[in-house]
Amino acid sequence: MTRVGDKQFEVFITAEELQKEIASLAAHINKEYAGKEVVFIAVLNGAFMFASDLMKNISLDCRISFVKMSSYKGLRSTGTVEELIGLGLDLKGKEVILVEDIVDTGLTIDKIIGLVSEQEPASVKVCTLLYKPTAFKGSKEPDYVGFSIPDAFVVGYGLDYMELGRNLNAIYQIKS
Ligand code: IMP
Repeated sequence: MTRVGDKQFEVFITAEELQKEIASLAAHINKEYAGKEVVFIAVLNGAFMFASDLMKNISLDCRISFVKMSSYKGLRSTGTVEELIGLGLDLKGKEVILVEDIVDTGLTIDKIIGLVSEQEPASVKVCTLLYKPTAFKGSKEPDYVGFSIPDAFVVGYGLDYMELGRNLNAIYQIKS
């Protein structure tokens, strides 16, 4: 058991289980993209640990970049404008894999897929460590999933609770 901020959490997925599943996800990607060059785009902040361990197991020719979603109020409209910051790579004609820590409602990854697709890549797939299928309202299910989990709050291994707990080396679930 561990405390993060004002809440108690218990281990849900151990560090060993994470590493084993990540190696298997990478092996799957290595096989499916054999002979191709891939651009991995990891979504900050949550995916930093997962992306790091995933990439250590990737044997393809690849580039990796880290992006953040940023929202601002449009000047002329009242709507919120979303943009992707930090990409710095040309994606036209490239095989792209988005790397996420968690797909919950799927709305964030939907927006990122939309923004990345504007650059006309050859393909865009999503690799997520965690997926909450019962919460999902997105348009396309993730292509590579480490663990499908119930709709409960988790923390650790990049995921935060009030920006705390990202440093934990396992995934913890909130104690009810
Ligand atoms: P979405 O609902 O799929 O758009 O997910 C939005 C973001 O919420 C994710 O990228 C995470 O940063 C965060 N999130 C969703 N579920 C959890 C959770 O259980 N723990 C920590 N962060 C979460």
